Amino acid sequence: MNARAGNGRLEGRVAIVTGASRGIGRATALLFRAEGAVVIGWDLSWRERPGPDGAEDLRAEVDLRDAEAVRFEGGRVLDAAGRVDILVNNAGVTRGFVPAESLSAPAWDLMLDTNARGALHAVQAVVPAMKARGYGRILNVSSVLARHGFPGQTAYAASKAAIEGMTRVWAKEFGPWGITVNAVAPGYVRTAMNEANGPEVERQVVERTPLGRLGESEDVARALLFLASADGSFVTGAVLPVDGGFSP
Ligand SMILES: NC(=O)c1ccc[n+]([C@@H]2O[C@H](COP(=O)([O-])OP(=O)(O)OC[C@H]3O[C@@H](n4cnc5c(N)ncnc54)[C@H](O)[C@@H]3O)[C@@H](O)[C@H]2O)c1
Repeated sequence: MNARAGNGRLEGRVAIVTGASRGIGRATALLFRAEGAVVIGWDLSWRERPGPDGAEDLRAEVDLRDAEAVRFEGGRVLDAAGRVDILVNNAGVTRGFVPAESLSAPAWDLMLDTNARGALHAVQAVVPAMKARGYGRILNVSSVLARHGFPGQTAYAASKAAIEGMTRVWAKEFGPWGITVNAVAPGYVRTAMNEANGPEVERQVVERTPLGRLGESEDVARALLFLASADGSFVTGAVLPVDGGFSP
């Protein structure tokens, strides 16, 4: 996809995408930029993409678990771009399949602090400016596992259930300022996050998926685009499954 080869659905918008260095975040940055947005990518590390490749206009190395660092980066974006219209809380981590009885406190903290609290930090950094302008689109990336659960996914599912809960709360809190808050709940998407899963796991997922294939990062990016664009302007507090029908 060429940068700026879209339909201008986000023309003039300023968007922060977290976890933008790869996977779903990178696909979202590319698509939003192609649709005319100025895209700022935030990630823990850009080692996998050391040079600019047109996916974002600006990038910053920031740990979303660090509230101060996130506030600082939010301030830098506001100084440089003057505003933030769209925030995509996409960054996330998982740590394999661990039975609940042996889940360690550090593993719990890592997933809850990144997937749930990290999103809160980003919201705290940009919502005052969104409120001041009376416009905002906050998009959270959940997972089918928030509702459906899966053995060995205690902390990950808890973190995604948390983000779905926050989505509904923030929709009510920020709605009066013209800010919509929605989430997407992807099914299994082929990214580095799932690298450790073998072909047998993928085969089982495909077998249980009515559309008969795994998700691609672009499938999720296009759903996020709908919610970020004028097409989704009367949708708020929603959690949209993007899973080929995996969830009932
Ligand atoms: N891949 C899937 O099957 C799938 C399914 C459902 C939901 N999701 C969710 O989609 C989102 C993106 O996943 P992905 O598959 O593209 O994963 P990924 O591992 O390819 O990308 C996640 C990115 O988040 C970044 N990140 C992690 N911790 C961070 C932190 N503390 N601060 C800043 N950045 C941090 C990573 O560096 C990485 O670039 C995640 O929230 C994930 O939980 C993925």
